Order: sequence, then C-alpha cells, then structure tokens
Amino acid sequence: MLGSEHHRLRQLRLASLAGDPQAFGSTYAREAAQPMAWWERWAEQSERGTSQRTFVLEADDGRWLGLALVRLDEQSSGSAVLNAMWVAPAARGRRLAALLCEACAGWAAERRCLELTLTVVVDNGAARRAYELAGFAVCGETTWVRDGRTLEELVMARAL
Ligand SMILES: CC(C)(COP(=O)(O)OP(=O)(O)OC[C@H]1O[C@@H](n2cnc3c(N)ncnc32)[C@H](O)[C@@H]1OP(=O)(O)O)[C@@H](O)C(=O)NCCC(=O)NCCS
Repeated sequence: MLGSEHHRLRQLRLASLAGDPQAFGSTYAREAAQPMAWWERWAEQSERGTSQRTFVLEADDGRWLGLALVRLDEQSSGSAVLNAMWVAPAARGRRLAALLCEACAGWAAERRCLELTLTVVVDNGAARRAYELAGFAVCGETTWVRDGRTLEELVMARAL
C-alpha cells in the first residue's frame, strides 16, 4: 500500500470495524473520529516499511478485499505483532487470511524477527482457525480493556 492511498485505507479499515466490531480492540467510533492526518501517517509508515507495514488483498478488478498490519513489537525486540486482520465477507473461506499472514511473516523475518504474535478474541473461532492454518499456535491468554470494553483474548505466536 502506498502513502497516497490513505483514503482507501480509511474506507477499508472502517468497513472492517463496522462489519465485525466484536473482533477488534478498536472501534468504528474511535477511528471514524480520527483526522485525515492520522490515516496519512498510517499509510506513509506502511510505505516506508521500517517499523510497520500494511498489506492489502487486491482483487483482479482492483477492489480491496482485506488487510493486515504488521509492526515491530516495541515491548519485545526480535518480535513483531500482527493486527487489524480482516477479509471482506464475500471473500471469506478461501484461505486469503493465510496469504496476509504470509506477507506479514515475510516482512517480519526480513527485519530479523524471530516470532510473529497476535491476539484473538477467545470465541472468534473462524479467526483462530485461519491463524492455525497459517502456522500460529495458542501460547497464552490476555485481557484487553479500553473505553469501558473488556475483551478476553488468546495470544498466538508463530516462529519465523
Ligand atoms: C478471520 C478471517 C480473517 C478469516 O479469513 P478467511 O480468509 O476467510 O480465512 P480462511 O479461509 O482460512 O477460513 C478460516 C475459517 O473461517 C470459517 N469460514 C469459512 N468460510 C467462511 C465464511 N464464508 N464466512 C465466515 N467464516 C467462514 C471457517 O471456520 C474456516 O475454517 P475451515 O475452512 O477450516 O472450516 C475473516 O473471517 C474475518 O475477516 N473475520 C472478521 C474479522 C476478524 O475476525 N479478524 C481477526 C481479528 S483477530
């Protein structure tokens, strides 16, 4: 994704938060309220690719069908974190999440990371299944609390 594609990034990310609010720690309201400069920064950082990168799934006709964000883990050197995973409903069940996971894993490995981690809400069976198919295994549990919302999550990791 290019830095100039921040409008498309916003549209795609907001579609994910509106369509599957239970899957994410962030919310539609929180991100819809962000100024355009916030989206520009996200897209620019992705194009630069030094600390993070966003991968999008593009259909043959150019439509964007999904995304995933990978970033270096500021808390743990040698580790990267996968966030914001989403595949549009019409494209689900075709192992496209695994393609996004591979792209994120490749980026992290190029930056000498030894593992890629993520969190998934405990009752999100489809996502857990998709991550297991992409080589992740559950390695712990955590609780996410923000803006009065509490999510019980599994921690998953994949060696790189
Ligand atoms: C989780 C998600 C990214 C998986 O993407 P995907 O490309 O459909 O993944 P897969 O094709 O590997 O399918 C994974 C599982 O999803 C389920 N699934 C299959 N077709 C589906 C469909 N049409 N709709 C919903 N779920 C479906 C199945 O359980 C499947 O596993 P199985 O084929 O072994 O039975 C996608 O469902 C999604 O965007 N969900 C909403 C957002 C979300 O949960 N993001 C993850 C946050 S941690």
